[in-house]
Amino acid sequence: MSTTREHEHPGRVDGTLMAVDHPDLRGKVAVVTGAGKGMGARFSAALARRGVNVVGADIDTTLMSESATAVGLEHSDVEGAGVVVGAPVDVRDRDAQQKLAETAVREFGKVDLWINNAGIFPEAAATDIPVSQVQATLSINVEGVLYGAQAAASVMAPGGSIVNMASVAALRVRRGRAAYCSSKAAVAHLTECLAVEFGDLGIRVNAIAPGFVDTEMTRWVQDDPQALEAALGNIPLHRLGSPEEIVGPMLFLLSDSARYVTGTVLSVDGGSRHV
Ligand SMILES: NC(=O)c1ccc[n+]([C@@H]2O[C@H](COP(=O)([O-])OP(=O)(O)OC[C@H]3O[C@@H](n4cnc5c(N)ncnc54)[C@H](O)[C@@H]3O)[C@@H](O)[C@H]2O)c1
Repeated sequence: MSTTREHEHPGRVDGTLMAVDHPDLRGKVAVVTGAGKGMGARFSAALARRGVNVVGADIDTTLMSESATAVGLEHSDVEGAGVVVGAPVDVRDRDAQQKLAETAVREFGKVDLWINNAGIFPEAAATDIPVSQVQATLSINVEGVLYGAQAAASVMAPGGSIVNMASVAALRVRRGRAAYCSSKAAVAHLTECLAVEFGDLGIRVNAIAPGFVDTEMTRWVQDDPQALEAALGNIPLHRLGSPEEIVGPMLFLLSDSARYVTGTVLSVDGGSRHV
């Protein structure tokens, strides 16, 4: 009878028990881009609350440092909470993303988790999209994800997990958002490409595709009764999502509960991709 366990053989089924105290992330180190506000700020706070040390990075350094301070105050009485350290990054800049990865290693000794969250959501009729908008959208939303993933892979050990922010707009057309929709479709497919190649490194790559989530990015919908009615008409659950409702699926994809999940684009959209 063999004394070696099945999971020690590469390519074999891993039959070890999985932790069910989902999701246990204590002691991990995460990098979150676009962490100055919105979902990135909530992801950072949720991770820190669960004992993860986070480097939160944003192009707006004032916003980032306020957000890091706010998380520190929020968790001052949470035993075992991690910290959020703010760092500058423009995700379009590959060298800056590499520097960010090195900052995380310098601060906390390693990187286990990386969320490519920074993004922009500009509007223009397809007939008139300015060159500057096309370039900014593709470079922040798509190149930013690629460079973030490359930086992550350069410092992550096997077992690392990367999550990219796609959107329901990757699947459904939103009028006036051709640059954004195509950028998010690219993020969804890029996620699959990266998952295939990073599998060789033992690193998982997934994406979340949210529908309308209550952040500044969607303030225009909430402030315009007609736009809000139209948006709600396309959401089977009849309401916008809250950032906290994206947190749970994010923690799942980052955690070992999802250790056999890679190359997935997980819709968290109240069903709006079907309408
Ligand atoms: N809010 C939604 O309804 C929604 C829906 C689907 C997908 N998303 C995606 O989720 C992600 C987060 O969205 P949000 O609503 O929290 O956005 P948000 O506008 O509230 O926050 C985005 C953050 O990214 C930062 N950022 C912008 N450009 C950057 C750059 N070049 N480098 C570094 N940081 C930069 C901003 O300063 C800001 O702090 C985005 O990728 C967005 O496209 C949002």
